[in-house]
Amino acid sequence: MGVAGGTRVRNDPAQYDELSGQWWLPRGDFAMLHWLAAARAALVPPATRPGAVLVDLGCGAGLLAPHLAGKGYRHVGVDLTRSALALAAAHGVEAVRGDVTRVPLADGVADVVCAGEILEHVADHDAAVAEACRVLRPGGLLVLDTLAATALSRFVSITLAERLPGGPPRGLHDPALFVDRARLVRSCARGGVELALRGIRPSAVDLARWLAGRCDDVRMVPAPTTAVLFQAAGRKRSA
Ligand SMILES: C[S@@+](CC[C@H](N)C(=O)[O-])C[C@H]1O[C@@H](n2cnc3c(N)ncnc32)[C@H](O)[C@@H]1O
Repeated sequence: MGVAGGTRVRNDPAQYDELSGQWWLPRGDFAMLHWLAAARAALVPPATRPGAVLVDLGCGAGLLAPHLAGKGYRHVGVDLTRSALALAAAHGVEAVRGDVTRVPLADGVADVVCAGEILEHVADHDAAVAEACRVLRPGGLLVLDTLAATALSRFVSITLAERLPGGPPRGLHDPALFVDRARLVRSCARGGVELALRGIRPSAVDLARWLAGRCDDVRMVPAPTTAVLFQAAGRKRSA
């Protein structure tokens, strides 16, 4: 039973097991994660060397995989949820069970680190960011998307979005874990990554067509503020 039934706390990891049949359904409970994966992958350039590695922190069921096809990366996914990792592996991801605050990978292994919709599920953002920067090689690219710690974000992402088709499942998010943007930028700078943020939102036209059942995908487009949902990217300083 979800948080709506009153027996489960928000951000309970057991939800991912209960909802495992939903991951890959384009109109399922994780529909928006598909739209976000496409937007995230758009920030990832083709690999510049053979054997380049992309580490996908909190990879879930590997929804990023189809959007990386042809870009030339080994896609390594790190997640705690075994059922999600099994699905990710079935979609070509090298699945590694681990916590994003203690990533079981060596320093500097990644040409690209993606951290999509994960920071807002973790209590220690600084630790997760430090790990993302640690596994990134000098000159490598960090790409992330997450939810901002603002009253507007709480209203839009929880009060509103949890009641709308296409929005996150009820109870998936705990607003106490939403991300302080200034602190995120400072954490990344400590790890050698100068981060640039931009707000994103679903395209209203696409969303209307999706709600009417006329398409399966919704484009994410720039939003006027980073105060709700935002993407961020930056390269790690070369040594
Ligand atoms: C909202 S899903 C996002 C999945 C994927 N990044 C995507 O966008 O499709 C959050 C994922 O983070 C994982 N997760 C939560 N806390 C974690 C942690 N501390 N370490 C590793 N994975 C974690 C969950 O198991 C879940 O698969």
